[in-house]
Amino acid sequence: MKVGLISDLHTDVTPLNKQLVPHLIEAVKAAKLDVLVIAGDLARHLVQLSETLNAFQLADLACEKLFVPGNHDIWAIETPDVTSEQKCSIISELCRECDFHPLMDVPLVKEKIGFCGTIGWYDYSFAPEDYDFSDAQYAEKELMGAVWNDKRYAKWADTDRAVARRFEAELETQIATIRDDVSRIIVVTHHVPFRECIRYRGELPWDFFRAFMGSKRLGEQCLQEPLVTHALFGHTHRALDMQIRSVRAISAPVGYLYEKPAMELQTYAAQCLACFNV
Ligand SMILES: [Fe+2]
Ligand SMILES: [Fe+2]
Repeated sequence: MKVGLISDLHTDVTPLNKQLVPHLIEAVKAAKLDVLVIAGDLARHLVQLSETLNAFQLADLACEKLFVPGNHDIWAIETPDVTSEQKCSIISELCRECDFHPLMDVPLVKEKIGFCGTIGWYDYSFAPEDYDFSDAQYAEKELMGAVWNDKRYAKWADTDRAVARRFEAELETQIATIRDDVSRIIVVTHHVPFRECIRYRGELPWDFFRAFMGSKRLGEQCLQEPLVTHALFGHTHRALDMQIRSVRAISAPVGYLYEKPAMELQTYAAQCLACFNV
């Protein structure tokens, strides 16, 4: 089975991000995938998010399409009273309408290979070790005039830690539901599951904001379950492919295209898409 991963398309950040979408679709076609995984951060507004899902649907791809949302996708900015929980439900609906499997709601088993997914969240377990900020300071999501935008736009009903626990529990349930029926499990999250995948620079405010990259428990869940062979994620705008003990950790983001890539967009898109066989 050939699996392809892409994340962080951010189609509403720059015109180039939007222009890249048809090229990504071409790259997916050319890769002849069995399963395409999109690991979140398509767009902050539902209109652009659905446009992108729709573009993949209209391409009539032969592969299964899986989606988990990212933090930008759940930003509640459409109306003042919408919550991130509500936005998650709307995204699930959009996935179903666009022939995407909403992996955050229900796992998928295909040819004895299980896919489990969640957006995941952060609990400050990836806070830098060299500094002594308090939980209250992390909860402020603001340092030296810089703001982590979840502060403004992520509107969950709980604290970050409670939200992280909620999504980890959902992942645990998904794994328990399918583990007797599969030969291996591929876990998909938006947030980062391993500290090893995070780059600290030894400077502020950069390192402070690494606290919002993910949670250690997501990775522990992957390592504790012997069936989990792959952890696919987004959020870090840095492509990675690392073996972390029993788990291959892969990210394949587009990120923010503030400058035109040095190569043709089609070549760039093909390079962004990470493919592997299981
Ligand atoms: Fe992102
Ligand atoms: Fe993100």
